[in-house]
Amino acid sequence: MIRSSRRKFLCSLGALGLATLPRAGRPDDPGGITSPSGANFCGAAPQGSPLFVPGDNAFLGRLRPAGALVRLRAASSGDAAVSWALAYTAEREGRRYINPTFVLQPGERLRVDFDNALPEPTIVHWHGLTVDTRNDGAGLTLVSRGEQYAYDFEVRNRGGLYWYHPHPHGATAGQAYRGLFGLIEIEDADERTLRSSLDLQPGRTEIPLVLHDRRPGKDYAASAADQVHGFLGDTVLINGTACPYLDVATRIYRFRVLNASNARTYRLAFRTVTGKPIPFMLIGTDGGLLRAPQLCAEAFLSVAERLDVLLDLSEASVGETLHLETRAFDPMHMEMPHEAAAVAGGVDQAAMGHAMPPSAPGAVDHAAMGHGSGFPEGAPRALLELRVRERLVLGTKLPGHLSSLPPIDASGAAERPLRLGYAKGRWRINDRVFVMGETPIEVKRGSVETWLIRNYFNSMPHAMHLHGFHFDVLERQTSPEQIAALKVDERGRLATDLGRKDTVLVWPGETVRIAIDFTLPKAASFAGDQVYMFHCHNLEHEDGGMMLGVKVS
Ligand code: C2O
Ligand code: CU
Ligand code: CU
Repeated sequence: MIRSSRRKFLCSLGALGLATLPRAGRPDDPGGITSPSGANFCGAAPQGSPLFVPGDNAFLGRLRPAGALVRLRAASSGDAAVSWALAYTAEREGRRYINPTFVLQPGERLRVDFDNALPEPTIVHWHGLTVDTRNDGAGLTLVSRGEQYAYDFEVRNRGGLYWYHPHPHGATAGQAYRGLFGLIEIEDADERTLRSSLDLQPGRTEIPLVLHDRRPGKDYAASAADQVHGFLGDTVLINGTACPYLDVATRIYRFRVLNASNARTYRLAFRTVTGKPIPFMLIGTDGGLLRAPQLCAEAFLSVAERLDVLLDLSEASVGETLHLETRAFDPMHMEMPHEAAAVAGGVDQAAMGHAMPPSAPGAVDHAAMGHGSGFPEGAPRALLELRVRERLVLGTKLPGHLSSLPPIDASGAAERPLRLGYAKGRWRINDRVFVMGETPIEVKRGSVETWLIRNYFNSMPHAMHLHGFHFDVLERQTSPEQIAALKVDERGRLATDLGRKDTVLVWPGETVRIAIDFTLPKAASFAGDQVYMFHCHNLEHEDGGMMLGVKVS
């Protein structure tokens, strides 16, 4: 009770326009949240390795096409600098990139000649971008080995962090896990204002954090149980670094977080090594900057979602150490044991009985379920160590207003019910699984719809993603306690529901209502029927058919 009202308070200051950041190291920081994660940071190797921070070439390097044609190639990585099997490579002006970060401006034309040097078919999907079906790369068309595909579209999105990854139906999880994903950064006027008012410099004080959990080895071998629950790794890499640390100064940092994991959800928070929580400012989500910053103690981040975060270290002391951690939570894998056991092929009933480890009440013991991960979902762990090394005095101030974001007008919109559940060995949407060429969801272009996404009680959380359009989260109903405790308004929404979204996590027993404006751009490429995908971004669920085609005509 005390805790939930404190969180409500924490997450509402920003909305009141109070443009002051919480200061790390202040003795009166709201406290009370402790977790044992410091103890398990890197296990026996507490020194860790420096966080890889992308520059303007090589891995995750920032590539500005500025209208020029980019050749992007999917191939085996063959590069010792990358810890996984596959990579996207590109070259521009003599620089070589691995999984480049495309840096784009609204209105610019993006031309990418994609080259498939994998031994299997693939295709690139631009996650979160407003593109026509031909450029969406949803898997309706595949590029075979040795073939090319030409993308050509205008950048039509707000400033924000988007990303790209493969989308060949049934093989997406394996290709993404083996290393195929990259970032897209769109810079608009609001972005530039934010950067200049806080003196943020990409690569120094503005740093992407790409979370990806891995098992030992480079291979992807999902068991039948993994296909039900999602593939969990036992090590979390950030920007490819295991046990990462970052040396920081006493100033404001911007972290742009993408959860590129196949299946794992994180409950992110900052704390000192002695356990004192450090609130942060949430300034953006999937579709760019919020209207106003939101002060938060923590935030859930499911697969494919993005968080844009400011952390103020101006009152931290030199020598102090902080952690970005994932806190303990109940992963709520409440799917029917009988069916799951049948699919898992002989995992015995007792082991499937959703044992509860003491660290996370209600958590399923995934190790006991043969998930092959020594790091169950919902277990606490430090993910990144921040070492305060330098004193700096900067007179920067966070603007109270970040962007203009007119809400989608959903008055009079028709409502479409969508139910998420498990039956006959498959995760389903409205009792259906994906069939290539079918579009069970048909929408009129230019219409606004509300979608009522309801997840059954005996289910697990599903991160629902819609291609081609961003949506507003209107409300959450019957949320589990650990989610309801984070709500910031009377509609049950979380700070992370604000702003434009393309992926939303729906917990068991929960109903989430979203509003979508199906207006398509006037350009000729959008003439005629357009087909998009609506699916769970748990990649094992997506590959297993928890996806429906959406026709916009
Ligand atoms: Cu991240 Cu169907 O996409
Ligand atoms: Cu499970
Ligand atoms: Cu799912």
